[in-house]
Amino acid sequence: MSREFKLWKIVLILFFTLSSSTYHSNGKLIMEGSATFDSSGFTKLTNTSKHSYGHVFNSNPVLFKNSSFNFHFHFGIVPEHNHSGTHGMTCVLSPTRHLPGVSSDQYLGLFNKTTDGKTSNNIIAIELDIHKDEEFGDLDDNHVGININGLRSVISAPAGYYDDNDGKFHNLSLVSGKVMRLSIVYSQPDEQLNVTLSPAEFSETPLKPLLSLKRYLSPYIMEEMYLGFTASTGSVGAIHYMLNSVSGPEVDYPSFDISVVPTLPLYPKKVTDKTRIVLAACLILAMTVAFVTSLIGFFFYMRHKKVREVLEEWEVQYGPHRFAYKELFNATKGFKEKQILGSGGFGQVYKGTLPGSDAEIAVKRTSHGSSQGKSEFIAEISTIGRLRHPNLVRLLGYCRHKEDLFLVYDYMPNGSLDKYIYRSDKNENQERLSWDQRFKIIKDVASALLYLHQEWVQVIIHRDIKPANVLIDQEMNARLGDFGLAKLYDQGIDPQTSKVAGTFGYIAPEFLRTGRATTSTDVYAFGLVMLEVVCGRRLIERREAKNEEVLVDWILELWEEGKLFDAAEESICQETNRGEIELVLKLGVLCSYQAESVRPDMSAVMRILNGVLQLPDNLLDVVRAERLRGQPEISMGMLLDMNSMSTLPFTNSFISHGR
Ligand SMILES: *[C@@H]1O[C@H](CO)[C@@H](O)[C@H](O)[C@H]1NC(C)=O
Ligand SMILES: *[C@@H]1O[C@H](CO)[C@@H](O)[C@H](O)[C@H]1NC(C)=O
Ligand SMILES: *[C@@H]1O[C@H](CO)[C@@H](O)[C@H](O)[C@H]1NC(C)=O
Ligand SMILES: *[C@@H]1O[C@H](CO)[C@@H](O)[C@H](O)[C@H]1NC(C)=O
Ligand SMILES: *[C@@H]1O[C@H](CO)[C@@H](O)[C@H](O)[C@H]1NC(C)=O
Ligand SMILES: *[C@@H]1O[C@H](CO)[C@@H](O)[C@H](O)[C@H]1NC(C)=O
Repeated sequence: MSREFKLWKIVLILFFTLSSSTYHSNGKLIMEGSATFDSSGFTKLTNTSKHSYGHVFNSNPVLFKNSSFNFHFHFGIVPEHNHSGTHGMTCVLSPTRHLPGVSSDQYLGLFNKTTDGKTSNNIIAIELDIHKDEEFGDLDDNHVGININGLRSVISAPAGYYDDNDGKFHNLSLVSGKVMRLSIVYSQPDEQLNVTLSPAEFSETPLKPLLSLKRYLSPYIMEEMYLGFTASTGSVGAIHYMLNSVSGPEVDYPSFDISVVPTLPLYPKKVTDKTRIVLAACLILAMTVAFVTSLIGFFFYMRHKKVREVLEEWEVQYGPHRFAYKELFNATKGFKEKQILGSGGFGQVYKGTLPGSDAEIAVKRTSHGSSQGKSEFIAEISTIGRLRHPNLVRLLGYCRHKEDLFLVYDYMPNGSLDKYIYRSDKNENQERLSWDQRFKIIKDVASALLYLHQEWVQVIIHRDIKPANVLIDQEMNARLGDFGLAKLYDQGIDPQTSKVAGTFGYIAPEFLRTGRATTSTDVYAFGLVMLEVVCGRRLIERREAKNEEVLVDWILELWEEGKLFDAAEESICQETNRGEIELVLKLGVLCSYQAESVRPDMSAVMRILNGVLQLPDNLLDVVRAERLRGQPEISMGMLLDMNSMSTLPFTNSFISHGR
């Protein structure tokens, strides 16, 4: 079969199966998840449901083996909020027309945690990604990428196009709600895949592609490949449209180009918004009546004004996230005791289901008499309301009712990390985490801390890192929660002195001495958490062997005896993991070092965990001084010893705190 003939065939298949007229009648397309046809004839890959995904696949294979291909399609993404939505869509070539077991959110309905990155996938996808996922190295929240077998793009670029006339780059916003065109061209002789994005109004594809990948794709392409589209949503909604306009080379075939670019429907308003509109309409009516009867009108006006003034500035600033008390009351079945997930110093946490959306939430309620009152609440809101990271528990909103304050978070069905790592009668049947899961959790927490310490505009100190504050989501990703103690301080300004708070055992020695929280005090606690995760036990536990009671001392003892590996929980001990386990144990010890200046910062920790930076070989000598732990002050001689660390290759980056 000649290459040309194959190309014909591809185009014909695309023509007949994907043109809008044949779409409906012959049922040639396979839809899964939330994908449907819109009444206007577009294919909607996702609907307003959160954390969902949709697929549409051509039911016939398109034979791509050893051939060039060339097609384009139109698409548009309508976000829930102005220029903000999740998670993105892909155009995919897959050896199967089903993608079983895939996940929503960052997995784009394309992979799941286990299948992501597997070479056996044989999947080539072009992602139109509207969310920055740090774990896949995304460059921003508006990019196009070429993905082979995984979500980490082989090559990616911010969405936009190059002007044919002057070669200038113009940005395009994928979530603008506007229709855009994507052209995908693979030349087999040149072994080059070009991807070009352009506004739908353009009649010609821009000459300079947005992405150009020089790679021989045949090894990834099976004899039979299916063409499909996937999309997913996360906690912010977005409707992903694929316009039924896929086609092959325009030169030879009737073009599907849309002569009049259609306007996509607006994102459907929530029911609550409708109620608000009705209320607003009533108000306007009342005002009109009031205008006629000016006295009453004046009275109404004054009252309205008064109500407005009662709103505090911070409430106006973070207005969109405000929940009605009734909503939360209904969601938690009237704050029933049965709904309580846990309680802490700050108040109780209730499980809830938002009426109308089935979205599960966790509602933190601060009790009336709590010593930590409104100011903490406001601090927490202003901090986490604006933080976005896959490894942080998302704050969805808040509510104030009488003397009670409420914070609404994403519900984490798998609870907190302590349940997984500590053995107790209560969780005897709890499945033990594998090493891969543990290592991932450690990296997740590290990534969240790095974000808080160094990647956010302000330095944020968590101040209460411990397993109970690490939550596990549905996909077994770790997410850091409870920012109740977080105190902000601006870059460059001395950390504020504040009253000692935190959890016994995880408090760094210098914090006890000075009451100053720094990023380094977080690193200290994180070091201990790493050790607990590897060893599957608490920092201090009653043990038959007295020397095993204090975890850190025991680990140091084993290390000195050259038996460090024995510290790890038995169920995860395998020779293949040995390197990683020892690395994490050593790093944990280094992070929880008594002297603050020796602890690495989070970017160094991250690089060590990722194997980019090495721990020094003579770390044990340095850490041996740690055996003097428990003595009141570190001696001068030891300090000199530590200073000599500056000759070690890692020190400069290690000891730079802040940015
Ligand atoms: C979205 O699609 C899913 C799957 O078909 C369906 O269960 C859900 O009800 C839809 N949501 C809305 C809001 O239409
Ligand atoms: C594709 O090319 C490879 C090597 O160039 C060859 O072995 C294989 O037979 C070709 N397959 C088809 C279907 O042409
Ligand atoms: C929507 O967001 C864009 C950019 O973020 C801004 O330029 C525009 O004014 C916003 N529109 C509305 C109606 O808020
Ligand atoms: C991912 O999907 C595969 C099937 O393709 C399934 O066997 C596996 O359990 C799924 N993993 C997760 C974490 O959902
Ligand atoms: C495109 O967007 C990026 C990031 O939003 C911005 O830095 C850059 O200046 C923009 N370029 C143009 C030409 O508007
Ligand atoms: C891909 O783009 C490059 C320019 O980056 C161009 O030289 C090449 O001809 C293009 N290939 C195809 C098949 O369009």
